[in-house]
Amino acid sequence: MDTEVWFAPGRANLMGEHTDYNEGYVLPFALAQGVTATASARDDGLLVLRSKQVPDEPVTVSLDSLAPGSVSGWAAYPAGVAWSLRAAGYAVRGASIDVDSDLPVGAGVSSSAALECSVALALCSLSGISVPRSELAVIAKRAENEFVGAPTGIIDQSAALLSTQGHALLLDCATLATAQVPFWPAAVGVSALVIDTRVTHALVSGEYAWRRVECEEAARLLRVAALGSVTDLGRLYEIEDPVLRRRARHVLTDSARAKAIAAALLVTDGISNKSEIYRFIGKLLVEGHASLRDDFEVSWPEADVAVETAVAEGAYGAKMIGGGFGGSVLALVPTGRAGAIRTAVTEAFIARGWTPPDFLDAVPSPAARRLT
Ligand code: GLA
Repeated sequence: MDTEVWFAPGRANLMGEHTDYNEGYVLPFALAQGVTATASARDDGLLVLRSKQVPDEPVTVSLDSLAPGSVSGWAAYPAGVAWSLRAAGYAVRGASIDVDSDLPVGAGVSSSAALECSVALALCSLSGISVPRSELAVIAKRAENEFVGAPTGIIDQSAALLSTQGHALLLDCATLATAQVPFWPAAVGVSALVIDTRVTHALVSGEYAWRRVECEEAARLLRVAALGSVTDLGRLYEIEDPVLRRRARHVLTDSARAKAIAAALLVTDGISNKSEIYRFIGKLLVEGHASLRDDFEVSWPEADVAVETAVAEGAYGAKMIGGGFGGSVLALVPTGRAGAIRTAVTEAFIARGWTPPDFLDAVPSPAARRLT
């Protein structure tokens, strides 16, 4: 039986947190790190799933028995993708799939979407099915929403499937229109650094879902289908409740910041001295973090300390990425300062009695692809 190896990357997000399910803008880029799915077709209608990270738990399920809630734990993501493809009308074959990952789990770098998307591509290829990638992103998201039960938006699957090397992906989550925005910080002596605070999060937990509820209520008060359609900040004063007003303000300003960073990167493409642009982008990152901390209230102490310390040590800017309540910070740093910034953040954590952080180089990388 032929074996195929598919890879899907994790992502970091330059700007636009919690804007995806509000139909605003996001600006993620794919990482070099991700999930590999080694897969071969089966004729017995079974999915046999193994994870190198969870070696004691191979999971075997029959395609015909798949239903939301029928599989739990890590295997719910790949099983959910098979379910979602079938629900979309695609005839998926059984398969044996072994997954391996070099992404930290629960670190806000989208290991779930990388798992979903690597498996989705493997299943499509083995089943002889061709699905446009934009549609596959929606199918993978549905697996996460309905099969796994995490009410997440479309950013992670889009980043995994639609990114291109050396670019960030500007995605309008209302229309799903995309633009590739040149982003190659290394060319101007800048490094993108992911600081994994080692506080893990779970998006199935209640706070993420509660933010969605609050945003929906704010949209209802503004008489719009989704907050992303509002660009006039003056309209926020139509929301009397101070908490809901702050939630909405975060969504409106973060979406605007995503567009502003994309515009700055697009305008300066081709200009030789680009490091100045990173001062501007860095300032927006710090604003974005403050908005997530104060208006949206999804940051956590380790993220705040990582941002403050990185900036104090010379980073252009830094912000938490992902859903919040744990996970990672993205810092844009002059490459020459990267070592000192790592040391300072590590020392700041140790001084507070926290587990030291991990660091990942965040290099804007290609989307999911077949390896062999
Ligand atoms: C998680 C979700 C995404 C998005 C981010 C916050 O990563 O999976 O859909 O909502 O949080 O920007």
